[in-house]
Amino acid sequence: MSQKIAVTRRATFNAAHRLYNPSWSDAKNDEVFGLCNNPSFHGHNYVLEVKVIGDIDPETGYCIDLKILKDLIAAEIEERFDHKNLNLDTVEFKQLNPTVENIAVACYQLLRNKLDAKYDLFIKLFETDRNWVEYPVK
Ligand code: NI
Repeated sequence: MSQKIAVTRRATFNAAHRLYNPSWSDAKNDEVFGLCNNPSFHGHNYVLEVKVIGDIDPETGYCIDLKILKDLIAAEIEERFDHKNLNLDTVEFKQLNPTVENIAVACYQLLRNKLDAKYDLFIKLFETDRNWVEYPVK
């Protein structure tokens, strides 16, 4: 029987953003992004679910120590994005439109860079209760 198991940790961060493509006219930005293009920005309470898949270590009984996962998410995601203006305050979205899709890929890459390669990683990022994305797609 496989000992692979999935362990998930949920984290939250609050951030402001504006969806905007600088190569388009203001009219086209308004048409495509609507209220999300508000020049004064707007905010979301993002919910990030980080799923780590691996083996159960026979000595500890853990797949991953949740304290380690908690600290990793805090250092890589919460400290970087929480209470920030994503467009103005982060290097990740200086040139990249901070859609929920792009934020999810950025979160994945930041975590993947620091997570032991023996684990598979999947994330969900909720922008609202009704809208979320998953990356990578299984
Ligand atoms: Ni928004």
